Amino acid sequence: MAANYDNSAWFYDRLSRMVYGRAIIRSQVYLLEWIPAGGAILIVGGGSGWILDEITKRHPSGLNISYVEISAKMMALSRKRNAGNNNISYINDAIENLTDETNYDVVITPFLFDNFTEQTLQKVFVYIHHRLKPQGIWLNTDFKLTGKWWQNVLLKSMLLFFRLVCRIEAKKLPDIEKCFEQHNYNAIDQKSFFGEFILSTVYSKKSKF
Ligand SMILES: C[S@@+](CC[C@H](N)C(=O)[O-])C[C@H]1O[C@@H](n2cnc3c(N)ncnc32)[C@H](O)[C@@H]1O
Repeated sequence: MAANYDNSAWFYDRLSRMVYGRAIIRSQVYLLEWIPAGGAILIVGGGSGWILDEITKRHPSGLNISYVEISAKMMALSRKRNAGNNNISYINDAIENLTDETNYDVVITPFLFDNFTEQTLQKVFVYIHHRLKPQGIWLNTDFKLTGKWWQNVLLKSMLLFFRLVCRIEAKKLPDIEKCFEQHNYNAIDQKSFFGEFILSTVYSKKSKF
């Protein structure tokens, strides 16, 4: 059965602030300077949509954003955000179910992949990969284990909690960085947050030639 963040929509942001303070926000805001004016942007798994408010502060107009979120309740919250005069298309579905032919300048995947098994990661990754233009920018933020004992404890508790409440499938963190390496992405900027437990990376897609 597919994961469903509907059950957590009403408390998700409050819980994340309680555990991580502003680190979840800072780690994503850090990446937003890479969004070019007038760009075509794909956001997958934006949750309650606060990232749209932050994007609008930097780009009040001119962006074409596809906002894909599988949870109807998260999507309802996202629709209430300030999109300014940007053109947003809200798509309430799993990204891998779409038959979208758009080629995007930038894709954003904020804490999307930690939900997944290796198998789902591959499937979803490849779908998004094909939608990004050659030399396009992929902004990814997610958890990473760097050997500190408390990271493992926090990760295990988080995965167990969301497995019970939202039926996520992951029991461990899939190898997200390896996926980018396998598809020849270059990491051109990177910063860690919250005791290195959160990693934000700017990846550039290799050109075709
Ligand atoms: C861990 S939450 C992160 C939310 C938000 N990015 C944040 O940082 O607060 C992951 C989000 O991805 C969404 N999601 C999970 N699988 C998805 C899929 N296959 N397609 C689109 N959205 C998905 C979930 O509904 C959830 O809102």
